[in-house]
Amino acid sequence: MYAGDAESIRDRFREVLAHFGSGVVVITSGSPDGSPVGMTVGSFTSISIEPPLVGFFAGNTSTTLPSVVSNGAFCANVLAEDQHLLARTFARSGADKFAGVEWTASMNGSPRLAGAHAWIECTIDDHRPIGDHELVVGRVDALGVPAVNDPLIFHRSVFHGLRAHR
Ligand SMILES: Cc1cc2nc3c(=O)[nH]c(=O)nc-3n(C[C@H](O)[C@H](O)[C@H](O)COP(=O)(O)O)c2cc1C
Repeated sequence: MYAGDAESIRDRFREVLAHFGSGVVVITSGSPDGSPVGMTVGSFTSISIEPPLVGFFAGNTSTTLPSVVSNGAFCANVLAEDQHLLARTFARSGADKFAGVEWTASMNGSPRLAGAHAWIECTIDDHRPIGDHELVVGRVDALGVPAVNDPLIFHRSVFHGLRAHR
């Protein structure tokens, strides 16, 4: 399959881009009323080491994005392989995503999800619209690896574990 004109690129965009596997991150933050918010993203990336910056892209229809931006801080929870149900829960728009979810507050108040593969806690450094998404850049305030476990991978709409090739 190959798409080279505007209409077929639009039709095939999701299908082809799904071939790019990624780790899975739940971005958490606090909402203005104090309740926790969160959304699953595959677009999380490291950006800069000095200063330490990371970022992600949130669709501009995301109900979580306005709370993250107004809170000015977030925690990126890199999910472990056994957290695929959590990845689905946090990919449902608007639902009560924290029901039954174990978490503790990070230094900036954003939830650290129990059992995560890694945590990166950030203050928002910059955010700007790009296409139909918003790029959110965070300056890293604290980070850690809470447990030794395996990461969750998302590829072609399916969750996977990691296979090493050495
Ligand atoms: C594995 C996976 C990766 C995703 N990556 C992104 C992403 O990078 N950006 C985004 O806006 N949505 C992404 N989504 C979809 C959001 O999680 C989904 O739109 C969610 O409903 C947003 O919730 P909200 O509207 O409550 O903020 C992803 C979903 C899954 C399952």
